[in-house]
Amino acid sequence: METAEPTAKIKAARKAARDWRLGRLEWRFDVMMPDRPAREGRPELLPANRMPRRGKGGNAANRIALLHAIAHIEYVAIDLAFDLVGRFGSLFPRAFADDWMQVGAEEAMHFALLKRRLRSSGSFYGALPAHDGLWEAAEATAHDALARLAIVPMVLEARGLDVTPQMIARFDAAGDVRSARMLDRILHDEVRHVSAGVRWFRQACMGGSDSPQEAWRQLVAQHFGGSLKPPFNDSARAAAGLTIDFYQAVAESHAYLPQKFPSSREGQFSKAAG
Ligand SMILES: [Fe+2]
Ligand SMILES: [Fe+2]
Repeated sequence: METAEPTAKIKAARKAARDWRLGRLEWRFDVMMPDRPAREGRPELLPANRMPRRGKGGNAANRIALLHAIAHIEYVAIDLAFDLVGRFGSLFPRAFADDWMQVGAEEAMHFALLKRRLRSSGSFYGALPAHDGLWEAAEATAHDALARLAIVPMVLEARGLDVTPQMIARFDAAGDVRSARMLDRILHDEVRHVSAGVRWFRQACMGGSDSPQEAWRQLVAQHFGGSLKPPFNDSARAAAGLTIDFYQAVAESHAYLPQKFPSSREGQFSKAAG
């Protein structure tokens, strides 16, 4: 998290995960995590509502903008995984750290793939602005392990499962098969990341008075103002253990919004969830 330079960050993440796996790192309970991970001047970080709108067409500029946005998500995902270990690892069995160190290494691999793809497409990571919404979600849940699991893997990464198939289809339609394949591979890894989130969330809920589903709904209401926007990738979510009984109520409660609010409001709700 203290390494901002992209290539060095990829190396540091993979080395940390490898060292942990090989028993070279101590399992300590007194780790102070930084409030914010180190960042370079690029990409410029903008509030979500100041981000330039991405075009939907399959031209090169739009595809590069999409690759750049995904690359930034993966870059931040490295920090999210290691922050989970460092901040909350002492509250869980050692297997928690095993899982999220591995996730951190996979996010570094995803970021490396996208970074390289941007280069071979004539751009680079940092060429475009990016928004800081993912880390803002981490900050909002920095003092509550259950809330962090509820929001980061179970809302935000699960959202990735929903939107990635459409992105793959867009790259395919534009003839960019390499990007499509890359995203397909990432999608498979992300199912496991969501699955780890659900598994540890369920474990953390044991002994509480609420069911995991009810506890999750309350945390989503409390910490995630945006609505959960359909369509949901029900099969990928179910493969990750995030079954429909978790999100049905949240999804249903928003199904009526288009009727209740004029269409200009509908757009706002969509954006908040995206
Ligand atoms: Fe990822
Ligand atoms: Fe992930």
